[in-house]
Amino acid sequence: MEKKLKVGILGATGMVGQRFISLLENHPWYEVATVAASPRSSGKTYEEAVGDRWKMTSPMPESVKKLVVMNVNEVEAVAASVDFVFSAVDMTKDEIKAIEEAYAKTETPVVSNNSAHRWTPDVPMVVPEINPEHFEVIPFQRKRLGTKRGFIAVKPNCSIQSYAPALTAWKEFEPYEVVATTYQAISGAGKTFKDWPEMEGNIIPYIGGEEEKSEQEPLRLWGTIEGGVIVKAKSPVIICQCIRVPVLNGHTAAAFVKFRKKVEKETLIRKLVEYKGAPQELRLPSAPKQFIQYLEEDNRPQVTADVDFEHGMGISIGRLREDTVYDYKFVGLSHNTVRGAAGGAVLCAELLTAKGYIQAK
Ligand SMILES: NC(=O)c1ccc[n+]([C@@H]2O[C@H](COP(=O)([O-])OP(=O)(O)OC[C@H]3O[C@@H](n4cnc5c(N)ncnc54)[C@H](OP(=O)(O)O)[C@@H]3O)[C@@H](O)[C@H]2O)c1
Repeated sequence: MEKKLKVGILGATGMVGQRFISLLENHPWYEVATVAASPRSSGKTYEEAVGDRWKMTSPMPESVKKLVVMNVNEVEAVAASVDFVFSAVDMTKDEIKAIEEAYAKTETPVVSNNSAHRWTPDVPMVVPEINPEHFEVIPFQRKRLGTKRGFIAVKPNCSIQSYAPALTAWKEFEPYEVVATTYQAISGAGKTFKDWPEMEGNIIPYIGGEEEKSEQEPLRLWGTIEGGVIVKAKSPVIICQCIRVPVLNGHTAAAFVKFRKKVEKETLIRKLVEYKGAPQELRLPSAPKQFIQYLEEDNRPQVTADVDFEHGMGISIGRLREDTVYDYKFVGLSHNTVRGAAGGAVLCAELLTAKGYIQAK
């Protein structure tokens, strides 16, 4: 790319916003031109606004420290300074829906980490290795919004990335019933142990709204475009329990699956490791070379050993074995703030750029 595209980050001071800042440091296609957050932070330098809330293990990039934080709600001003934005604001669902549409209507593409638009019928919700063809719904959305280049695209919830990729790789064997339990890290709630000390040595058997997302969102990924909207798939039935565990980064899932077609364990493993998608074929900058790895050891995947596989963009699967009630069971692991949040959104933006949906203004 001759000239880097200018990127704005909405919610730049938060946990996911900080992850965007870290992932975009030295990005070959994008430069962070604008950081925006709530009125509490606007007018301060990024360094001052974040203060002691920096939660990444790598230091804050020098290039953003002196940027003056803008107010997310000043849509025209923020939009005028960028080619497109990543959205990771924490506001009410209705406020997020409205503000993301307002940005799109200024002809600024929005790649969002938020859940607000995940079920808006003409908004693509994409894992680039799973359903890149859903970006083809964007012209229909642009027609509704009355835009030429502005649109909204979203990525799905962090919890599903630990099992939905495996189920996708096994689609030809027709999985029809899935039971999953997710063991979710505290960074998924924007927290570290410093600001959530009661999570040390603790388990909380409830994450608001998470079970419904974990059961429904994979079906939307496997849906089809019909009449300008995404229609979700009808199968498999997925039921989930989502549990908060004392882990900083990394969502684990333990899943049971029934298949309509008989299949050997070796074939299932081969399908996992051979699975590739558009990001690998196009060699996008943030694409993992290996999307899914299979670990043979009985004690893997482990959060500390495996969460950073492929810089947090790869999925680790292990413990695949036959089951006496279901056909197979397995354990999956993904990085919730990289693949499951900011990294997944950056990969979506790269694919949208490669396909010409995002261009310089
Ligand atoms: N953490 C994850 O792994 C994860 C994964 C998937 C999705 N998400 C979703 O992503 C969003 C951000 O999550 P997070 O964990 O990064 O949250 P967070 O750490 O609480 O950060 C929230 C960000 O939103 C800004 N903000 C808050 N109220 C605002 C307002 N009224 N107007 C404008 N900006 C406002 C904050 O700015 P100030 O600093 O100025 O307050 C901050 O930049 C949430 O909707 C969350 O559900 C999170």
